[in-house]
Amino acid sequence: MKPIIQTKGLYKTYKGRVEALKNLDMVVNKGDSLGLLGPNGAGKTTTIQIILNLINQSKGEVELFGENIKGQENRLLQKVGALVGTPGYYDKLTPNDFLMYVCKTHLMNKAESQIRIKEVLNDIGLSEVGTKKVGTFSTGMKRRLGLAQILVHDPELIILDEPTNGLDPKGVREVRDLIKNINKMGKTIFMTSHNLTEVDEISSRVIFLNHGEKVGDEKISDLRKELGFKKIQVKFLRDLNSGEKEIIQSIDKVKGYFEVDNPYIEYDGDISATHDILKEIMKEKLPIFSYNPQTLTLEDIYFKIFGNPSDKKELIL
Ligand SMILES: Nc1ncnc2c1ncn2[C@@H]1O[C@H](COP(=O)(O)OP(=O)(O)OP(=O)(O)O)[C@@H](O)[C@H]1O
Ligand SMILES: [Mg+2]
Repeated sequence: MKPIIQTKGLYKTYKGRVEALKNLDMVVNKGDSLGLLGPNGAGKTTTIQIILNLINQSKGEVELFGENIKGQENRLLQKVGALVGTPGYYDKLTPNDFLMYVCKTHLMNKAESQIRIKEVLNDIGLSEVGTKKVGTFSTGMKRRLGLAQILVHDPELIILDEPTNGLDPKGVREVRDLIKNINKMGKTIFMTSHNLTEVDEISSRVIFLNHGEKVGDEKISDLRKELGFKKIQVKFLRDLNSGEKEIIQSIDKVKGYFEVDNPYIEYDGDISATHDILKEIMKEKLPIFSYNPQTLTLEDIYFKIFGNPSDKKELIL
């Protein structure tokens, strides 16, 4: 089956020589819920804008539904619903009126539009307020209306740029649940976030972007397995030489030794493994100073990927 989105060797250099994207290869398959994750300035919005043909790439190609978008954007983007930023609404319009207008822009007839608007307001939890003026809506309700707006023409692919940005915890919860439901309806989701917890909750796959480069592409289920690994914060009386680091890595159940800020050992297995590992370290006469077993958190994974590369020395890749 052809991918829903495919980018091939995508580059974007803005005026002023900001290299926002460097050689981005990415595939999103039908039914995927993909989270594009990265810190501020990583190139997430740039990627979305290129996919939606809002800006041009400097180099590379974008295919939607197996076809190059250039020259075909109007036809291909009909099958896409995208929410980028918070759209402005006429306060005096009701969701029914507004969505009827949106349907017209998609060339849907009146009868078809009325059925679809009813369905989508129901799906999005706004059916009670279909005839209320948008001016009275909270930010969370407006965001839900934004989702209704992009769903009304029944697109195959939903693209969202930081969909929970600016919402309070209740609004965040509602919008995350809605996105999960939209994916369950069979729609492919491509969303950006700088929140790993959010991506972990909503997405089945995550692509990590940093300084415009893809630095990871993992199934969430594999990330969870990684979360299963635990860590032991360790300090030595002096810096270890490479031979000593290799000794640590070769110890049974040790998955890696990392020197990010505070050095730590990642291990697999139950808590008794911490005892076995310590015994080996002692046996090898490594100059251990402190030894503190802990659990690996989502943030550890985030910083392992996005930590400043200059102060990160990983022994395993
Ligand atoms: N129109 C523009 N002109 C010049 N540089 C730009 C422009 N838009 C973005 N950039 C730069 O490109 C880089 C990537 O920006 P982009 O908005 O894609 O990042 P982002 O991952 O969406 O960040 P954020 O999390 O802050 O939304 C940044 O260095 C940004 O300053
Ligand atoms: Mg952005």
